[in-house]
Amino acid sequence: MCGIVGYIGNREAQGILIGGLKRLEYRGYDSAGVATLNSTGELTNIRAQGKVAQLAELQVKNRKTDSIGIGHTRWATHGAPSVKNAHPHTVGRITLVHNGIIENYQDLKHILVDKGYEFQSDTDTEVLAGLIDSLYSDDTNLLDAVLGALRLVVGAYGLAVIAHDTPDQIIVARSGSPLIIGLDDEETFIASDASALIGHTDQVLYLKEGEVAVCKAGDVQLYDIKANPLSAAVETLEADMQAIQKEGYEHFLLKEIHEQPDTLRATLAGRLHLDTMTASLGGINMTAEELRAVKNIVIVGCGTANYAGQLASYFIEQFTDDISVRVEIASELRYRSFHVADNTVALIVSQSGETADTLACLGELKRRGVRCLGIVNAVGSSIAREVDGGVYVHVGPEISVASSKAFTSQVAAMVLFGLVVAQAKGIGAKELAEYVQELDRLPFEIEKVINTVEDSVAHLAKEYASYEHALYMGRDTLYPVALEGALKLKEISYIQAEGHAAGELKHGPIALVDDSFFEVALIADNWLYEKSLSNLIEVNARGGHVIAITNSQKPIEAEAVVQLNTDLTVFVPLLFNVVLQLFAYYVSLERGNDVDQPRNLAKSVTVE
Ligand code: G6P
Repeated sequence: MCGIVGYIGNREAQGILIGGLKRLEYRGYDSAGVATLNSTGELTNIRAQGKVAQLAELQVKNRKTDSIGIGHTRWATHGAPSVKNAHPHTVGRITLVHNGIIENYQDLKHILVDKGYEFQSDTDTEVLAGLIDSLYSDDTNLLDAVLGALRLVVGAYGLAVIAHDTPDQIIVARSGSPLIIGLDDEETFIASDASALIGHTDQVLYLKEGEVAVCKAGDVQLYDIKANPLSAAVETLEADMQAIQKEGYEHFLLKEIHEQPDTLRATLAGRLHLDTMTASLGGINMTAEELRAVKNIVIVGCGTANYAGQLASYFIEQFTDDISVRVEIASELRYRSFHVADNTVALIVSQSGETADTLACLGELKRRGVRCLGIVNAVGSSIAREVDGGVYVHVGPEISVASSKAFTSQVAAMVLFGLVVAQAKGIGAKELAEYVQELDRLPFEIEKVINTVEDSVAHLAKEYASYEHALYMGRDTLYPVALEGALKLKEISYIQAEGHAAGELKHGPIALVDDSFFEVALIADNWLYEKSLSNLIEVNARGGHVIAITNSQKPIEAEAVVQLNTDLTVFVPLLFNVVLQLFAYYVSLERGNDVDQPRNLAKSVTVE
């Protein structure tokens, strides 16, 4: 979703800002802009609809040596994607970029229009610029004007503001939308996402909720909303350039699918102990007694994180006999009346750690006194900071908008939690050892699947890429995999794809089967094999175009069959999922889509 960058130092800002915006492209956006000031306060604001590359072309014609500026990638909320709605927005002496939504912007706009302000765009952001300008008089400094405005707004923001008559400072503020400040000797960098800072500096300061900072070259001063100075805690950013490059792959998604054996090993490292056949988690901050007392788990997330939770719920209930797990879509839970039973632990699942709905649920659950644990990838993100403890999944930056490696490791992290609880509750050593051994072998098995099926899946994808509709079906643990597989396909191929519990097909979806659809049947070699096969046969009988994916070695009648060779039994759904990731990737490739930045989608959904 929207991205912010800022720079103040002794080098040309435009290039640094555009470079930063390129790093944020993966978040999803539809227009971009950068504004810089020269030493006399003259503003250059260039904005383009479409990609950062188009902005870079404009910059060549408008090149400035200015050494202070702010930039933005916009994901349209208020007003269509267009140059006039692109940030930065200027009103009077103020230019700013903004992530989030100002909910009372209509009221504020009326007040400002009555005062004589005119607005060019349809955005809430321009109103905020007007509001700050209206408070920025000759006897008020910029910080006071920004703070005054922020006290009047309702909504969420990550903000970077420059004023034309003070070209030596950028003011940034955070409420509900992340911002990070990077510091070097004589330079200061601002970004909404750490990936834009990598390669510039590793000394960073994560702005906390409600904090405002005055950034000067190589220096920062923090304040609270009442203008009280705060002390700043600078941290070392642990990420490197390698992690945010494609390393020879055509797309980040393909790289991230291939990375899964290694990223999963990183999730399991130090947590799975083959010598004792146990699992442990360092960051959950729960005693054995507290773990034993857990009776209910509520898992909250959006999109892929929600499906990871659904899959994990099957495993956790399998490990224990007195825990019930419910999985909630964050955007639903946050506005529903719901009841949390005693002895509940919430798992808050988010790759980015910034998803607005998930963050809101965390707040609501904490308000009700529920212990909340994060299953998060982005270190230092909002969710990671606000939970009571948690498990970092450690998959490194996930750049492709469509999630892949995060899903696998989110499931693994929740499985680890389930095992740790089961241990505390006295799971039998033999059963536990089986789970531990399977989990340990999973990275190797994923590697094997990728090596053995990728070519045939790529070939298959070519054959099915011209369909416009797809039904995915699976039973038991393969039902959430069907949901996630269908999501992956629709996200990047734009094929209408729906996941269903295979047993539900005859209650409706089977009416859809015709020549415009293909069906993906996930068939596990387990006690449900015959039932899954019957569902496939029912579709075959209606002329369906079925791709069967199975780990059974028995012959299956279908238009196409992908056979997985593995002796895993419990965690085998994660192997099916890798096949579906590859399939979606190659269909998208065949259709000539923008695989890593699919239309209308954002990586980090920081507005609801
Ligand atoms: C967006 C992304 C999805 C992701 C979801 C939740 O929709 O495009 O890939 O699953 O947000 O994101 P989170 O960062 O909370 O896991």
